[in-house]
Amino acid sequence: MIKNDLFLKALRGETVERPPVWMMRQAGRYLPEFMEIKAKYDFFTRCQTPELASEITVQPIRRFGMDAAILFSDILVVPQAMNIDVEMKAGVGPWLPEPIRSRKDLDRVIVPEIDDTLGYVMDAIKMTREKLNNEIPLIGFAGSPWTILCYCVEGQGSKNFAKAKELCFTEPGVAHELLQRITDTTIAYLKEKVAAGVDAVQIFDSWGGMLSPTDYQEFSWQYIQQIIDALKEKVPVIAFGKGCWFALDTMAKSGAAALGVDWTCSPKNARYLSGGNITLQGNFDPSRLLSPPEEIKRMVREMIDAFGKDRYIVNLGHGILPNVPVRNAAAFVEAVKEYDQG
Ligand code: CP3
Repeated sequence: MIKNDLFLKALRGETVERPPVWMMRQAGRYLPEFMEIKAKYDFFTRCQTPELASEITVQPIRRFGMDAAILFSDILVVPQAMNIDVEMKAGVGPWLPEPIRSRKDLDRVIVPEIDDTLGYVMDAIKMTREKLNNEIPLIGFAGSPWTILCYCVEGQGSKNFAKAKELCFTEPGVAHELLQRITDTTIAYLKEKVAAGVDAVQIFDSWGGMLSPTDYQEFSWQYIQQIIDALKEKVPVIAFGKGCWFALDTMAKSGAAALGVDWTCSPKNARYLSGGNITLQGNFDPSRLLSPPEEIKRMVREMIDAFGKDRYIVNLGHGILPNVPVRNAAAFVEAVKEYDQG
């Protein structure tokens, strides 16, 4: 049994003494101990070496004591396993030298055997669980098929993912075939993660908000729904769509245990749009972690008051930024632990 089960209780909608807290991208570049490992090993070596991935996963927990850990890895290990090369270039970020832009390009995209290609993730999960010693739950994750497609087609990050949208709107058949292969791979991958020991999974749809509400249903949501349907009986699923407030009503009826919200949607509006019964997660503006610690604490208290302490998981509205001072990240977690309704 997990000793601190606040996070799992919140996912089940149970009453809690205070809401649980974790931070998206908590295992990463704002931590000096992470930078030490980063200086020695390149990105995918860190992902592929269970000793390193598990160590990086527990670093923020040791320092701040969040209520859940998220496995150190990346959403782009999935296209890698599908035979699409992915590199991590300094100063550029993800770099896919041979993007998928036509039916011919699709020929080399496979739905892989998970054990053969991503077995190292399962080893990292098992090693992380040992290190966590049943203190807190472990979250596994995957990118949404649409967000993965964005990188596969664009070949790198982008402000508006124009090439990804161009493929969807000029060659919808190719786009849908690619989305379905990513979906099938992701379902098999997440099932393996659950078997290896993760307690919950989160789907990151970081670029869902690039699509209109109608296109979102066609090119993103229907695939996320397939993933939720395949996983929801096994494990709680959190669906996070950045900029996707317009879909909160659909998402609330999906079988997901919780929905992620970004900071452009107020807590009140998020509760209203999602129907008031589902657990919500978010939505502190990551840049607000640059405010002085006392101000961070006040804003966190106000955020909890606005969402309500139950059916709520305290988090950021997107990943933590690299320039956040460690003591500011600490203030965020402390404010939640000190939270008192009175
Ligand atoms: O949350 C965690 O702490 C677990 C680890 C994690 C990473 N990436 C490690 C990482 C998670 C959950 C991700 C998810 C991810 N990766 C997303 C979805 C969430 C989001 O932020 O929108 C996306 C879009 C990616 C793709 C990706 N990987 C980008 C855009 C970048 C480069 C930009 C950046 O943030 O640095 C990466 C690299 C990456 N993934 C780093 C880390 C810690 C930084 C590079 C490094 O450590 O060398």
